[in-house]
Amino acid sequence: MRALVVGSTGLVGRHLVRQLLAEPGVDLVRSFQRRSTGVQVGGRRADEELVDFEALDEWSERLQGDVLFSALGTTRRAAGSQEAQYRIDHDYQVGVAQAAARNGVPVLVLVSSIGADPGARSFYMRMKGEIEEAVAKLPFERVHLLRPGILDGPRGEVRLGERMGLAVARVLARLGAPAGMRPFHADVVAGFMVECALAPSAGEVASDGANGRGEDSRGISGDHPTARRDPEEPFAQPRLAGPRVFRHEPDEILALRGAAR
Ligand SMILES: NC(=O)c1ccc[n+]([C@@H]2O[C@H](COP(=O)([O-])OP(=O)(O)OC[C@H]3O[C@@H](n4cnc5c(N)ncnc54)[C@H](OP(=O)(O)O)[C@@H]3O)[C@@H](O)[C@H]2O)c1
Repeated sequence: MRALVVGSTGLVGRHLVRQLLAEPGVDLVRSFQRRSTGVQVGGRRADEELVDFEALDEWSERLQGDVLFSALGTTRRAAGSQEAQYRIDHDYQVGVAQAAARNGVPVLVLVSSIGADPGARSFYMRMKGEIEEAVAKLPFERVHLLRPGILDGPRGEVRLGERMGLAVARVLARLGAPAGMRPFHADVVAGFMVECALAPSAGEVASDGANGRGEDSRGISGDHPTARRDPEEPFAQPRLAGPRVFRHEPDEILALRGAAR
């Protein structure tokens, strides 16, 4: 597997790159980032490309591989405004996904959030929902959207709100609260991302239970103009152009803990 990563220097992204480098089934880890980290695992290094996300056109052709992992994001405080946060979190991730799909990358694994909903009142949840909505329409074969709750792990920067939220989540976890209210260790989320790419059948069965086939992201019927027809058998049931989309909810992500590869 040739893995492409954006958000590789973040809390989840750093774990993800380490896990990918340690995975024998992964032949190449190519990360696109704005600063070098030089992460090594057993003498293996990621192929780090230093890029400007505002100039995606200059490097989008190099998004060639088998899976795109996306764990990019920011906070309003770091970005400076809601508009800047949206530009980074939504536009960068969707832009990279669009380019990868155009290049023929078949699978996208993206970290979204619990509560992601394009109709949400909260700016953050609405933004995450709009990311999900946008990437679910792209011509991938499979799209995996992870919806963790609050992330846990060491950060270089202090995020006061997140720290307070984590303290509460840790207490709730001890009291047996539902998965969505517990902390999500970044290495567990990263492990789940790798699992989605390497063992898709496990994710498929768990993602929607009913038929293990994922949902058609757009509810497109066979008559829809974007449905692809086989020129040899033009009247056969056309293949849908959209990907199978798997939304991985908190309980599913946490269930993988302890079942590490
Ligand atoms: N925090 C939570 O509790 C929580 C909960 C649910 C979902 N999520 C979502 O999960 C994902 C991963 O979260 P995380 O905490 O691992 O993220 P993180 O530690 O904040 O890392 C974010 C990544 O995005 C990159 N990035 C940020 N601004 C950028 C810019 N202007 N240009 C290029 N790259 C930029 C960072 O690169 P640099 O290192 O160069 O800054 C880093 O690689 C995010 O989408 C987040 O919204 C977070």
